Amino acid sequence: MPRSAVSRRIPVSESEGSVQHSSGGGTARPTESTSDDPRQFWLQAFRTVRGETERRAGLLSAEDQVVQSMPDASPTKWHRAHVTWFFEEFLLRRFAPAYEPFDDRFGYLFNSYYVSAGPRQARPQRGLITRPDAAEVAAYRAHVDGALAALIETTNDLAAVVPIVEIGLHHEQQHQELLLTDILHAFSLNATHPAYDPHWQWPSSAKAGTVSAVPLAGIARIGHDGDGFCFDNEGPAHDVLLAPVRLSRTLVTNGEWLAFMADGGYVAPMLWLSDGFAAVEAQGWRAPGYWRQIDGEWFSMTLGGLRRIDPAAPVCHVSYYEADAFARWAGKHLPSEAEWEVAARSGALADAFGIVWQWTRDAYSPYPGYRAAAGALGEYNGKFMVNQMVLRGSSLATPQNHARVSYRNFFYPTARWQFSGLRLAQFDD
Ligand SMILES: [Fe+2]
Repeated sequence: MPRSAVSRRIPVSESEGSVQHSSGGGTARPTESTSDDPRQFWLQAFRTVRGETERRAGLLSAEDQVVQSMPDASPTKWHRAHVTWFFEEFLLRRFAPAYEPFDDRFGYLFNSYYVSAGPRQARPQRGLITRPDAAEVAAYRAHVDGALAALIETTNDLAAVVPIVEIGLHHEQQHQELLLTDILHAFSLNATHPAYDPHWQWPSSAKAGTVSAVPLAGIARIGHDGDGFCFDNEGPAHDVLLAPVRLSRTLVTNGEWLAFMADGGYVAPMLWLSDGFAAVEAQGWRAPGYWRQIDGEWFSMTLGGLRRIDPAAPVCHVSYYEADAFARWAGKHLPSEAEWEVAARSGALADAFGIVWQWTRDAYSPYPGYRAAAGALGEYNGKFMVNQMVLRGSSLATPQNHARVSYRNFFYPTARWQFSGLRLAQFDD
């Protein structure tokens, strides 16, 4: 949810070429070509973001788009329809009296978790939705696109419509990332190792060990308090007290992770939280997600298919439990959210954005004074503030300009299918 002030401009993807890297620093920037007319600006933003979803889905076949490989991962076709339903449910049904729904049954199929918006398909059964087919979902998208464009062009209540357009676009960008993480999980279970994009390459990253850690201490301010959009969980901005600590400028690499593995990291219970080692035993974890050993060499499933592990590249697809165990093995810690944000705001972190989300040691909980908004959109973030851990930064799958220094991503501590990695922290003696 946006806070009280709505940004006039929304960061949108340029949607050219392969998967975008977020260069996102502290503030999101609009695209180069923007209009001073608010209606034209939002029309352009809407078309750009909607187009990026279709570009990402366009590399997949209709069969690819139906598969659901686990309860946490949704089919591509479902993502495409769900983000469309969001605009239909929260904008068109409320602000466009003459709007004719494309199909009244779609609310049941494509509502995700909005209890106040009505009953819905069970999440683990989204892969059973073979109908509507991909062509019908494309028609559904086109129907809503036309109606939404007309609403933006003609509404007499632009001030009320724009904030919901804006959150709808940021919501769709979140699903653009999930579209990739979810299809990668499905492809990882296919013995032929399909490539989402054969030309895909890991983004380049800073060289580990070439730069020193950044020191922090004292009272600092975190949270979103500037212009522009933020989700409600990024505020209120508030002061925090940091004990003297140093954050690594660089991300933990595959080479470092191989050393952890070679040193028996996955079979040393003293390194692990109790729930973490239970997950190791239950899941049979011996390496990061998607890693497999072939003839003595380590490979990983990527968006470009099965690729040899690059020891210099940041480690990816590790759970919170693994990140925590690695930090203990290294004699260090995971940074807190506040430590990460203060360091990132100072510009001292390499690869804070655009490669892997970075686990923090903080549980996902409300900032002091946080209150979820009233109504259905109040379900967006607040009701998930228990039992999950916060990740900061952004990943190689995050749409361009979707990242923010105050952005709080969150997943369960066992999750490995996101592009998740880590950097380390060390307290001063
Ligand atoms: Fe959603």
